[in-house]
Amino acid sequence: MKTIKVHLGDRSYPIYTEKNLLMKIPSILSKKNIGQKWVIISQYRLMELFGFELMSLLKENEFNIDFITLPMGETAKSLNEYSRVISQMIELGCDRSSIILALGGGVVGDVSGFVATSFMRGIKYYQVPTTLLAMVDSSIGGKTGINTSEGKNLIGSIYQPQGVLVDPAILNFLSREEVNAGLGEVIKYGAIRDSKFFNDISEWLDDIESFPFEKAIYRACEIKAEIVSLDEQECGMRRLLNFGHTIGHALEANLGYGKIRHGEAVSLGMKCAGWISEQLNFISKTENQFLAQTIDKLTLPSTSKIDFDSILSYVRKDKKVRNGVLHFIVLDALGKGNVCDKVSYDLIKQSLKILL
Ligand SMILES: NC(=O)c1ccc[n+]([C@@H]2O[C@H](COP(=O)([O-])OP(=O)(O)OC[C@H]3O[C@@H](n4cnc5c(N)ncnc54)[C@H](O)[C@@H]3O)[C@@H](O)[C@H]2O)c1
Ligand SMILES: [Zn+2]
Repeated sequence: MKTIKVHLGDRSYPIYTEKNLLMKIPSILSKKNIGQKWVIISQYRLMELFGFELMSLLKENEFNIDFITLPMGETAKSLNEYSRVISQMIELGCDRSSIILALGGGVVGDVSGFVATSFMRGIKYYQVPTTLLAMVDSSIGGKTGINTSEGKNLIGSIYQPQGVLVDPAILNFLSREEVNAGLGEVIKYGAIRDSKFFNDISEWLDDIESFPFEKAIYRACEIKAEIVSLDEQECGMRRLLNFGHTIGHALEANLGYGKIRHGEAVSLGMKCAGWISEQLNFISKTENQFLAQTIDKLTLPSTSKIDFDSILSYVRKDKKVRNGVLHFIVLDALGKGNVCDKVSYDLIKQSLKILL
């Protein structure tokens, strides 16, 4: 089994990646099983696809395990759902020693992480990501969160899991659109950190049927683990992971959550950020074209109906605006992201034209 470590002192943890790892979870976690209550937090559809099988295996191996389901989509990341899960945990007899297995995509991971950080002042949890996006991004680094009517992830914490268990074979169940969205985040890692990886991804995307997911997931996890290990609290380098996200989040908000996938919005945001990087002479026209052509290999939703002023208003509210200064992520080269405080709102607005 391949292991990557997130180095955070006494909060360090492993990321295990291996095809068909899901069914090995009982043996991976057996040493941690000392009779406490375990809870799988997931979605019913995922329980049917592979969760019930995992639960049976855990039961056979003497885990005292139950499950709680969340609805599909962003509605699961609400205070209502959060409080319902907490009530169910109490009903199930959970206590401070209980451990959560977050089995799902970013939605399940974010809510479960927030339940773990707050239930009885914090209990242990493992991430078992099932979407490509969750495997390479949201399951690593401890960001947990739920939404309010005012915006996404406005309530949350940074609370690290005990481990991340990645089984690339589960991607076989995932729709092409969701895989495609996750590939946006994979491209991001190449763009901000590793030009060779970027070139490889670009080539691999020419034949999606034989895309080497295991290899790509492994490298993406390595990069995410490295960045989180260096900057857990997002004071410096971790900001680079927001490449494509300032505009991406604003697009998600403008088009409406559920209308565009997070990874799709990020892909479009990266195109704009690449264009901005070229305008500021950080990258050449050729580099920006290569970035845009690579992103265009993904099938992305139409953005002909976006409202520039609305997007700008969301950009102004972005969490990356600190003391009125927007920390925008640009590229200094393909494979080298950087934080730039000099990107004007006007330039951001102009960049949106490339999406029409
Ligand atoms: N915490 C972080 O660092 C972080 C980073 C990026 C994104 N996020 C959050 O993640 C969320 C998006 O996550 P997502 O893209 O994984 O979406 P998601 O969790 O909504 O999953 C997408 C859909 O795929 C289904 N699904 C999941 N795994 C499946 C599988 N193996 N087979 C079949 N269907 C499957 C889900 O039930 C859901 O319907 C957003 O809320 C975003 O804010 C968090
Ligand atoms: Zn993202």
